[in-house]
Amino acid sequence: MPSYLNQIPPDLASLSDYQAYAQRNLTEQAWAYIHGGSADEVTFQRNLSIYNRLQLNSRVLADVSKGNTELTLLGQRLAHPILVAPVAYQKLAHPDGEIASAMAAAAQDAVFCLSTLASQSLEDVAEHCDGPRWFQLYFQSEREHTLALVQRAEQAGYRALMVTVDAPVNGLRNREQRAGFQLPADVRAVNVTAPAVPVQIQQGDSRVFQGLMAQAPRWADIQWLRQQTQLPIILKGITNPQDVDKALAQGIDGLVLSNHGGRTLDGLPNPIEVLPDIAEQVQGRVPLIVDSGIRRGGDVVKALALGADAVMIGRPVMYGLATAGALGVAHTLRLLRDELELTMALCGCASLADITPDLVRYPKF
Ligand code: FNR
Ligand code: LAC
Repeated sequence: MPSYLNQIPPDLASLSDYQAYAQRNLTEQAWAYIHGGSADEVTFQRNLSIYNRLQLNSRVLADVSKGNTELTLLGQRLAHPILVAPVAYQKLAHPDGEIASAMAAAAQDAVFCLSTLASQSLEDVAEHCDGPRWFQLYFQSEREHTLALVQRAEQAGYRALMVTVDAPVNGLRNREQRAGFQLPADVRAVNVTAPAVPVQIQQGDSRVFQGLMAQAPRWADIQWLRQQTQLPIILKGITNPQDVDKALAQGIDGLVLSNHGGRTLDGLPNPIEVLPDIAEQVQGRVPLIVDSGIRRGGDVVKALALGADAVMIGRPVMYGLATAGALGVAHTLRLLRDELELTMALCGCASLADITPDLVRYPKF
């Protein structure tokens, strides 16, 4: 039986300290789903090591006594640039699920992104979370069902749509397969009320091409969505500069550079590897949000220095939730924000605008 902490012990001093606690409270199957990446987990592992290859330049004796971490993102004034990434099925981690995470995010002034595959209703989450909320959209097999989700999100006060485009099919989740992961009976995607329309495939057809991909969204669907809603649209799951041009041509309002935490296409780069080029290409026309492997305040500074406007964390939220419910998520967000402030101070940054590319150093040996 899981046992959730109701206070934070001293050995939970950083985001990664939560992992071992979380694992103890999860079944082997749930751990495989939450923690794992796809295939050989090459991208997943890279996410966790790549930030350490970059160094930070300090700036000593700077006056940061009026420092802050504020920003404006999609017209919304935010206290800091750390967002809660959309993560499906949060009741796997704790019975309070998404409601606990959303409350914790609100308490820590963090934007909360609710997954289409949330295990609690988007209206219930809205009722419990008076902080900024965005809705992550997975296209449904029929447009009317996609539109119904968008309209529910609008009505419940979600202030942006984050459309995930990198997972039209699940990644090769070998770790989940080996563990025999299946959703328990009491955890399901409650907001998805329309059943997926089964695609008729003929003998000899491919389950991928003629099956799942026959229903997968295309650029024309983004164009269609643009005409259905006034909400800002952010595309999540871009790492290729060629896709950036296509996205901008659709009039989207933001991009999440992400490899989905290494859970979709194994072999993708980490967003930080493509960020400088994409930032140069985008020239500030839309905000860039980066995720996949952010675990330290120093990682946030490195991402912002190389052109990100904000970052998101995914798994750390689930580790916090599985360890201590809302308290664990709030503490996780607080830790990362404190680390960001400390790193900024040591780098002589009194504002996010002071986090410039020259702060990042590429070691020579
Ligand atoms: C995810 N992610 C995700 N993304 C999305 O757009 N919709 C979703 O429903 C989910 N579900 C999901 C479940 C779990 C268990 C994880 C770990 C991740 C991806 C997520 O939003 C984010 O891109 C990554 O988690 C970021 O990487 P880190 O912070 O986990 O390293
Ligand atoms: C995942 C899907 C739900 O990463 O986005 O598990």
